[in-house]
Amino acid sequence: MKAIVYTRYGTTDVLELKEIDKPILKDNEVLIKVYAVSINDWDLGLLQGDLINRLINGLLKPKIKILGSDVAGRIEAVGKNVKKFQPGDEVYGDLSGSWGGFAEYVCGRENALALKPVSMSYEEAAAIPQAAMLAIQGLCDKGQIHSGQKLLINGAGGGVGTFAVQIAKLSGVEITGVDSSGKLDMLRSMGFDHVIDYAQEDFTKNGKCYDLILDVKTNRSIFNCARALCLNGIYVTVGGSMGRLLQALLLGPWISIISKKKILVVSLKQNKDLAYMNELFESGKVKPVIDGPYKLDEVPKAFRHFGEGAHKGKVVITIEHN
Ligand SMILES: NC(=O)c1ccc[n+]([C@@H]2O[C@H](COP(=O)([O-])OP(=O)(O)OC[C@H]3O[C@@H](n4cnc5c(N)ncnc54)[C@H](OP(=O)(O)O)[C@@H]3O)[C@@H](O)[C@H]2O)c1
Repeated sequence: MKAIVYTRYGTTDVLELKEIDKPILKDNEVLIKVYAVSINDWDLGLLQGDLINRLINGLLKPKIKILGSDVAGRIEAVGKNVKKFQPGDEVYGDLSGSWGGFAEYVCGRENALALKPVSMSYEEAAAIPQAAMLAIQGLCDKGQIHSGQKLLINGAGGGVGTFAVQIAKLSGVEITGVDSSGKLDMLRSMGFDHVIDYAQEDFTKNGKCYDLILDVKTNRSIFNCARALCLNGIYVTVGGSMGRLLQALLLGPWISIISKKKILVVSLKQNKDLAYMNELFESGKVKPVIDGPYKLDEVPKAFRHFGEGAHKGKVVITIEHN
C-alpha cells in the first residue's frame, strides 16, 4: 500500500511517499480502507519531535512511522473479537495513540470508531473527530454553555473554532471570534457576531467581559484571561502554549477560590461524542469546514499550509485507490 512515512523527526522534508506492507490486523481491531484523513496539531508535534512527543513516540527517532489519527473509510476485515462492525461498514474516528492514517489502509480499535452517516462524505467525517470533540467537551462539558451568554473563542478560524461556533449557536449565545485578519470575513460568514484581529486588539485588555471563553491557543497570561471573564464566568482552554497550560492547571483552582471565576483545562476524551456529532450533522446543524482536500502525495504541502496557520477549518487529505 501507499503511505506517507517518516523515519526521523524534522520538517515536512522528512515525509516520504512509500510503498509498504499493509498493517497486520489484531483480534480487537478492524482493517480500514482509508478514504480521507485530516491533520491535527498533534500530528505536527509528532512530526517535529518536541520533547513531549519524543517521550510519546521515541526519544531519538519515531517508533510509529505513519502519522494521521482522524480517519474515515470502509472496513475491509475485522479481528475475531470485534463485535460492533463488519466488513463494508463505513466508519470514522480518532486513532491517536496508534496513528497510521496517512496511508491506504490502517488498523484501528473498534471502540475508536463510529458508523459514518450515509449523507456525510469521507472528507467531512475525517474532519470531525479531534476538533469537534474538543469543541463539544470545551463548550458543553466544561463550559456548561447556556442561552444568553457572551462567548469568546480565541483561535476561532481553525479546526476547533469552526465547529465550536456552530455548536454554540444552538445555545443562543452571542459569539466573538479572535483570529488573524485574513480569517475574519470567514468568521463573520459563519455566524460570529463580533470578530477581533489578534494583531490589532488584545481581548484580555479591551475592557469587555465574557461569560465563557473557549481558548484554542492559550497564549496569554491566565490572570489576564480571568480578568476578561464576567462574574461567575468560565475560561476553558483546549490547548496552546505548554507553559500557559501548566499555569492554568496549577493556578486555576486558586483563581476559582478567590474570584468566583473558573479556569478549566479540557483533557480530550477521544471519540466520546461522535454519536452526538452524527445527530448534529444529519439534522443539518453542523457542517465541517474543509480546507482542501489534498491528495496523499500532497501531504507535505498540506502540513506546511497547516504549520503556517494559513488554513481555514480542517485540512483534509483524500486517498484515492486504484
Ligand atoms: N486538551 C487536549 O486533550 C487536546 C488534545 C488534542 C489537541 N489539543 C489542542 O487543541 C488545539 C487544536 O486546535 P485547532 O485544531 O483548532 O488548531 P488550528 O486549526 O491550528 O487553529 C488555531 C487557530 O488559531 C489562530 N491563531 C494563531 N495565533 C493566534 C493568536 N495569537 N490568537 C488567536 N488566534 C490565533 C490560527 O490562525 P493564524 O495562524 O492565521 O493566526 C488558527 O486559525 C491545539 O492547541 C491542540 O494542541 C488538545
